[in-house]
Amino acid sequence: MPRPGREAVPKEVTSLWGEEEPRLRVGLGEMDRVLGGGLVPGSLVLIGGDPGVGKSTLILQAAGRVAADGRGPVLYVSAEESAQQVGMRARRLAIGGHGLYVLAETNLEAVLAQADALRPSLMVVDSIQTVYSEAVPQTPGSVVQVRQCTLQLMRWAKGRGVPVIIVGHVTKEGDIAGPKMLEHMVDVVLYLEGEKYSSYRLLRGVKNRFGSAAEVGVFEMTEEGLMEVENPSAMFLSGRGSEAVGSVVMATMEGSRPLLVEVQALTSPSFSQVPRRIANGVDMGRLLVVTAVLSRRLGLPLGNQDVIVSAVGGLRVAEPAADLAIALAIISSHRGRPLPQDMVAMGEVGLSGELRYVPHLERRLAEARRLGFQRALVPRAALRRPSEPGTEVLAASTIREALALAWPRG
Ligand code: TYD
Ligand code: MG
Repeated sequence: MPRPGREAVPKEVTSLWGEEEPRLRVGLGEMDRVLGGGLVPGSLVLIGGDPGVGKSTLILQAAGRVAADGRGPVLYVSAEESAQQVGMRARRLAIGGHGLYVLAETNLEAVLAQADALRPSLMVVDSIQTVYSEAVPQTPGSVVQVRQCTLQLMRWAKGRGVPVIIVGHVTKEGDIAGPKMLEHMVDVVLYLEGEKYSSYRLLRGVKNRFGSAAEVGVFEMTEEGLMEVENPSAMFLSGRGSEAVGSVVMATMEGSRPLLVEVQALTSPSFSQVPRRIANGVDMGRLLVVTAVLSRRLGLPLGNQDVIVSAVGGLRVAEPAADLAIALAIISSHRGRPLPQDMVAMGEVGLSGELRYVPHLERRLAEARRLGFQRALVPRAALRRPSEPGTEVLAASTIREALALAWPRG
């Protein structure tokens, strides 16, 4: 990546094949994966998220891991909390040892002077909205300040070859001076997300100049901080009842990783003129397509029914491959009959009721198999092999065929 002060000369591309710089692993596997294998030297990483979601906790843990690994000092700049507050949190999280330095400072020029004296292997700045630069007169948190500080940190990171992580709060007033505004300036953008009443946190890649931006890391917020969830499929399925009317499990792809998720539907007679369609964690557009297809192609009388569909566990499942699970969940609820417990279903539903290709079918089926699902209802078009070892594959070309396979006795 370009560094100021160095003349660039053209190089033949093959001579650059091996030039990837070694990454600095933060030691939290879920975070390293979302980063694309760790922090690239000199990169600027933005972690955005709502206030209180756990950003400070996450970067304090990451900073502690890097320091504990003995790869040189790590500088945690707190422009929000006092050094004592950070220290107390570190004690609660049992983050100690040598090499992690806390600097409570809001003046960015002072921060950079301290950083140059310490020569850290990683610097984190919490948050970008509370530091200010003397280069511009505006108040901290204003658009101009936030941009200026980001720019200066970017220059510092690139100039020293040291990765810098900045935290950005999602602001209430839309995107004014929030992390959205900085996305185009930084190298990597991650968002930490969580539902209000759930302890699960998803670290979602949104932009990554050095790897896939589609990865998701899964954590659980506990008394001891954020814990990596090593078996997220099991987690998203936990609490699934045996009386599973209106419940269908699918394997969705989050980046390169398959995750099992339960899709639930409830149909009930509507009391309003226009029956309601409610989508929680699934795409409203897809829900409308699926209900329309069920009404028109299968004659399912949904015209006087409210339809509520949820992805359980706080995961958002926006991909079209969720269509079949949504459709079967609705039918299951409407008929009051569960789907076989050991069956997963996925496939895009087309407007004429045809089932369309889903990508990465093998990986999805492998994950389903790992968690004990022995049958899979899939689009015929997605099958590359006639069978999948260990899984009974039921292939259907249309939603009508899928129904017959899911409920063979009608
Ligand atoms: P925090 O990291 O301060 O969030 P952010 O920096 O995104 O605003 O953490 C937010 C919440 O997490 C806080 O209300 C308390 C909770 N929490 C835990 O449940 N366990 C912990 O170990 C820590 C440090 C925080
Ligand atoms: Mg914080």
